[in-house]
Formats: sequence, structure tokens, C-alpha cells
Amino acid sequence: MLARRCAVLLIEPREALELDWQAMLSGGGALAASLSWVALAPHLDREVPVAAEDVAALGRVGQTVWQPVATLEQQLGDACVARLLACGLLVADGGGLPDGLPDALAHFRARDDVLRAQHWRPLSAVAHMFSRWRGMRSESGMQFPTFDELVQVYGQPPEPAVTRGAQGCAIALPQPEKSTLDGVLLRRYTGRNFDTKAQMPLALAARLLQRTFGAQGRREMAPGASVLKKTSPSAGGLHPCEAYVLAQRIDGVAPGLYHYHAVDHVLEPLHMMSGGAARQLALVAVADQQWFADAPWMVIVAARVARNFWKYRNHAKAHRALLLDAGHLSQTLYLLAAEAGMAGFVTAAINEGELEQALGLDPLADMVVAVCGCGLPAPGDYVELRQ
Ligand SMILES: Cc1cc2nc3c(=O)[nH]c(=O)nc-3n(C[C@H](O)[C@H](O)[C@H](O)COP(=O)(O)O)c2cc1C
Repeated sequence: MLARRCAVLLIEPREALELDWQAMLSGGGALAASLSWVALAPHLDREVPVAAEDVAALGRVGQTVWQPVATLEQQLGDACVARLLACGLLVADGGGLPDGLPDALAHFRARDDVLRAQHWRPLSAVAHMFSRWRGMRSESGMQFPTFDELVQVYGQPPEPAVTRGAQGCAIALPQPEKSTLDGVLLRRYTGRNFDTKAQMPLALAARLLQRTFGAQGRREMAPGASVLKKTSPSAGGLHPCEAYVLAQRIDGVAPGLYHYHAVDHVLEPLHMMSGGAARQLALVAVADQQWFADAPWMVIVAARVARNFWKYRNHAKAHRALLLDAGHLSQTLYLLAAEAGMAGFVTAAINEGELEQALGLDPLADMVVAVCGCGLPAPGDYVELRQ
């Protein structure tokens, strides 16, 4: 059997602070700190505590060249190699083993191969995989303090606008002229009070999908390699963000999950469900933010990382570009929604884990970035007050 280190590994020195009651009662310091090493390896999708001697051992094993396990055992000790293989920080190759690798080792190997195939920048892969939520609910950790409460606890926030440059040198600018786009720009707002009875007309859903996520043109850049033209910009013109629709109340569309095909302009059914189940999934998706789950539909934006990383391999800016792409798309949806008299929304406070599971996506390959959507505001909501 051969082995090498997993492709991406970040080791974090972690400090946990606890109240030391004994020290406090005897008049000493009240806080006890315990220090440990934590391995963040994206192919494992979970944190792994590691002993200091194993951290040192990992530093002696390369991630590229396969080495006989017997050689590693001589260098690092049998027990250390066994521990690191068992937790997946060393990955094994079963070449030469009559029955291949045991299941657990084969699983780690397969996940490491998937990670290697995407061309992630290591730090970006760690940031992505370890910033995902599973099971986050507003009552269990996600707080929604009011501005007043925040000011009470944190004091005043940094000012909303700042002055830079030498005093008195600012150039006064003319007021912006009015334009037709203003009507939409100035009506755009985040809705948190949707009309829970209102249906989304199919024609409108189709328009919003096509104008936000659909191809407006296609251009062959090299034989067999084409890019799409969309209404939002995209890094490298690659448009890696896919739109998945969670339909609750779209006319003529059964509740459930769909993939929107950017060129064919069709909804591809993935998973049909009852209206109640769709509402429940919507709630889970946005970590119990019921004000967004009330919308008639949501669009889950997930980037196919390999489409972007095909060009931007192991690139320091590629992950950022994916986030920016998703942000542009959501703003386009907001504007189209505003034009149609609807309120939009976008949130990054989402349970990626459950969404990946529902959509059958591998987070190493498809990065769920945001959930956006729109709907008719309930009577009396902001839009009506402004009109
Ligand atoms: C990246 C991003 C994440 C957001 N996440 C949330 C969220 O989790 N919950 C929420 O109620 N609003 C969320 N919003 C909406 C903002 O709170 C909203 O844009 C802001 O309050 C300004 O209001 P406006 O959009 O009506 O101008 C998010 C907006 C952005 C751009």
C-alpha cells in the first residue's frame, strides 16, 4: 500500500477558554485556556483534532509523491501512520492490494481525488468548506439583534460615509440627472413581508429567470469552447453560477426543486414535494428566516467551481470572483423584481449542507453561495407606501 498527505491541509492552533472555578475560588485567574491543534482538510468536511506529534509527522509527508506505507512507518512510527490514515489526513493508494483499499480509506481517497480535480486554491477551499452551515436555526445561534441592541452592546458603528483626502479639496459634483433606470433602482428594496397568498405568475418567473440567469447569446471562443452572454458580468465570462428554483407558489409549477437551464430556458425537475415540504425546505434553506420562506419561490445560486477554476486554477482571486458573480446575479434579480412591482431578497445566512443534500450537489465541486428570490409584498408593505 502507498500513501501521501491529503491535497489541502491547514493546521490551526485553537485556544478554548473556560472558567476555571477552582482558580477563581482560590483568588487566582478565572480563565483557563486549553490549546490544541485542529486540522482543516476540505476533503474531510469536518475538523479533525490532531496531536502535536502528528502535526510534525504531517510536515514530513509530501502531498504529491506516493510512498510505501512501510517507509512512512519506519520514519514516523506505525501508530502515527495508522492514526493519520484512519482520520484521512494521509490518503492511501491500494495498488498492489488484492482486494483494494478498505472502505474508509477508499472514501478518503475518493474525496481527495475530487478535491484535486477542481483546482481549488488551498486557502479558498478551506474557507469555503468550513464556512458552510448545517442545521443552523435562528433559535439555535443565529441572532437577529435590532440596531438599538447592537448600539447598546457594541457602541456606535463606524460612520456610514467617510471623508478621505485633504480637507477643502473635494470637487462638488452636479446632482444626477433622472433616467428611466432610476425608477427601478430607487424602488429596489429587500422584502421581508411577502403576501403569503399570492402566486408567482409563470410568465413573470420565466422572465426573471431568463433575464437574470439565462443566456442572451453564445460565443465560441475556441473550437468546442464557448461562453454565454448574460445580463450580469462574470469573471472570465465563464458564468459558473447555476440557478436552482425552490418553487412554492408558481402558477402551473408543482412545489419542488428544479434546475434552470440557462440555454434551453427550461425548468428541470429534480425533486417534487408537497407544498408543506417545500415551505419546510425553504425555512431550512434560510436558517429559519421565515420572512424569506414566505416568498412564493427562491433561487439557490450555486457555482460550478470547475468552470471558473478551469481558467483560474489555484488562483488567489478565483473564490472571490465566484462570490462577486453571485452578488451581481442577485442584484439583477432584485432590479427585475422591482420593475415588476415585487420585493426581492438575497441572503448568505443559509444552510448549505441541507441544500447540497436536497440538490444532490458535492460542495467540493458545486459551491452554494446564496439564496435569493422575490414576491409580491403584503398589503401595506414598503413598496406600497412609497408609490
Ligand atoms: C450578501 C447579503 C446578505 C444578506 N443577508 C440577509 C439576511 O440574512 N437576512 C435579511 O433579512 N436580509 C439580508 N440581506 C438584506 C440586507 O439586510 C439589505 O440589503 C439591507 O438591509 C439594505 O436594505 P435594502 O436592500 O432594502 O436597501 C442581505 C443582503 C446582502 C447583500
